[in-house]
Amino acid sequence: MIEDLGSQRLKGRVALVSGGLRGIGLACVERFLAEGAEVVLTDLSSPEDAAETLARLGQAASYVQANVTSEDDWATVLAAVTERHGKLHILVNNAGIDLTGPVATTSLEGWRKIMSINVDGVFLGVRTFVPLLEQSGAAVKGGASIINVSSIMGLVGMSEVSGYNASKGAVRLFTKSIALEFAEKKMPIRANSLHPGFVITPLLQEGFQRWVDKGVAEKAQDLVDLMSSKTPIGRLADPSELASAVYFLAGSDSSYMTGAELVIDGGWTAQ
Ligand SMILES: NC(=O)c1ccc[n+]([C@@H]2O[C@H](COP(=O)([O-])OP(=O)(O)OC[C@H]3O[C@@H](n4cnc5c(N)ncnc54)[C@H](O)[C@@H]3O)[C@@H](O)[C@H]2O)c1
Repeated sequence: MIEDLGSQRLKGRVALVSGGLRGIGLACVERFLAEGAEVVLTDLSSPEDAAETLARLGQAASYVQANVTSEDDWATVLAAVTERHGKLHILVNNAGIDLTGPVATTSLEGWRKIMSINVDGVFLGVRTFVPLLEQSGAAVKGGASIINVSSIMGLVGMSEVSGYNASKGAVRLFTKSIALEFAEKKMPIRANSLHPGFVITPLLQEGFQRWVDKGVAEKAQDLVDLMSSKTPIGRLADPSELASAVYFLAGSDSSYMTGAELVIDGGWTAQ
């Protein structure tokens, strides 16, 4: 198999990935490092619990414990990025959770929690880093790049996914709005949303396990097989396939792209 990773095309750039300790976020961190970037990742785990992953990622990566819903935590992340690097070119607002179930039995607490993480978290990440991205973006072709992770569930609806649908739809339009604002003001920042289909990550596996516990299926693999059969390409995605798209949005190859939706879904929304 011919591999095309590690071209070092992000050398000199600094990236920040929220929710970077596992799943799609971790795949993005690994891809950015392979392309020569320096990466700051944030997540909920303590630095002690993150230490093993950090040691494996190497010295170009650093970790800040931060909850995306907390303004104070974002201030801590900004201070850490400023102190270590003094610049930021790539912001990936990736941290997110899911929520499923009938709308009639969705608790206000559950609704507010998903909105807080999936929507407030993206807003706070953007608001915190716009000044540094603007300052840093002027020095790179195509400017700084914000990638907000939405979902195919931000494009099309699904039964019993109302809270998640609403949160990811908000991320989609929030991204278009800031893209237009930056363009109008001639700020060197692009913003695009990413719309993954079904990706094999801990989030998906835990979600499938909850459906198994509810008696929807006998085992999680049956749900993987079911969703694969409903996906035109016939399988679920590997996180690295999303990281490839994020890498493209992050760098100069996507310099004319802003306010757009990059759909990586094996054909799901083409149906
Ligand atoms: N896996 C999929 O099929 C899929 C599909 C479409 C979109 N997405 C989106 O991709 C993103 C990543 O999903 P994933 O599947 O890799 O999930 P994951 O649960 O495997 O990883 C998400 C990471 O975010 C962290 N996180 C959660 N809440 C946080 C908070 N409040 N503050 C900071 N970090 C927090 C988690 O600790 C975890 O490490 C999410 O926004 C998700 O909605 C996933």
